[in-house]
Amino acid sequence: MDVLKLKEEFNKIYGEGEVRVFHSPGRVNLIGEHIDYNGGYVFPCALEFGTFGLVRERGDRKVNLASTNFDLKVSVDLDNIVYKEEDDWANYPKGVMKVMSDIGYRLSGMDILISGNIPNGAGLSSSASLELLIAVIIDTLFNGGTADRVELVKLSQKAENTFVGVNCGIMDQFAVGMGKKNKAILLDCATLKYNYASVELGDYTLVIMNTNKRRALNESKYNERRAECDEALSILQKETDIKALCDLTAEEFDKLEHLLTKENVKNRAKHAVYENERTKKAYEALNSGCIEEFGKLLKASHDSLRDLYEVTGRELDTIVAESLKIEGCIGARMTGAGFGGCAIALVKKDKVDSFMEQVKKNYKELIGYEPSFYLSGIGEGTEEIILSCK
Ligand code: GLA
Repeated sequence: MDVLKLKEEFNKIYGEGEVRVFHSPGRVNLIGEHIDYNGGYVFPCALEFGTFGLVRERGDRKVNLASTNFDLKVSVDLDNIVYKEEDDWANYPKGVMKVMSDIGYRLSGMDILISGNIPNGAGLSSSASLELLIAVIIDTLFNGGTADRVELVKLSQKAENTFVGVNCGIMDQFAVGMGKKNKAILLDCATLKYNYASVELGDYTLVIMNTNKRRALNESKYNERRAECDEALSILQKETDIKALCDLTAEEFDKLEHLLTKENVKNRAKHAVYENERTKKAYEALNSGCIEEFGKLLKASHDSLRDLYEVTGRELDTIVAESLKIEGCIGARMTGAGFGGCAIALVKKDKVDSFMEQVKKNYKELIGYEPSFYLSGIGEGTEEIILSCK
């Protein structure tokens, strides 16, 4: 996206003057799926593409929100921030403003233009990207830019949970806010302790594949899975002293699983425990350069999300299965919440073009429409972009 063009667009909407520019990435999760809310390890990274935010202070109590992606423009009164269904995408920025103002951050009027490059509904966290963008803008413009970044991450998640009403875990906001160029983040969601890991894939590269199936029904299914995990946890807590499902090792789980008499509840819990172990192994594999092992773990993760957690669906299963059939691909899995959206594949660098061509053809034959592919490097977390010219 051309930032100078965006500035012109901003000036057209709001008039000439100084503009500050911020960027917030999307994210992709390498492995550790549906376990952030089970106290497990996740292994995401920020992407190079994301959401731009152009902003100018107004000096009053009004925030104007416009976007190059949607026609809808919304004006927010900072002294009366309420959720409105018709405000659609603007509820994400509004939620962050509300949460920040409630806990004592200073806020003042702004004109804002948002421009996103993250395909909507692809499961690459366009909403967390927008939330962190607004949080960092408010911190930088009105609060001296001194807020602890993890605090901004947590309050963005809170905005999504309490204002927008999506009961997501911490992973997306953490990856977006704490992302580092060329690094993935191994995050322990129970303690929020984290490690950056270099992503050295040797002869391989990561291909992001969008099924182009939008994640319909996603929220209700997501909440259903969370409830099933809570049910498993409360049953297991009668016999063992754990705070979250991922406190159990696979061995411990195997001894206790007979307590879970409902098949679906047992399967969800089993996925959580084993996925957590896989994530730790994947981190080790990457650190020691065992890319093939890393690929196998990706594949096992997908199998478990399909068979035990049941969050994949025909499109994701097809794209992953077709990917694995093609020479040069050593691992693939869905990423994010599932039920559509994106998958990732680990593919030999010199085979990427033929890989994409083949998968596109085969997927289209089976599903009826084409997937999209993104080759993104690993980008920085949310930041202000200082331009050398006005
Ligand atoms: C969504 C949620 C995350 C996480 C993933 C699944 O992206 O926002 O918190 O639970 O699904 O791993």
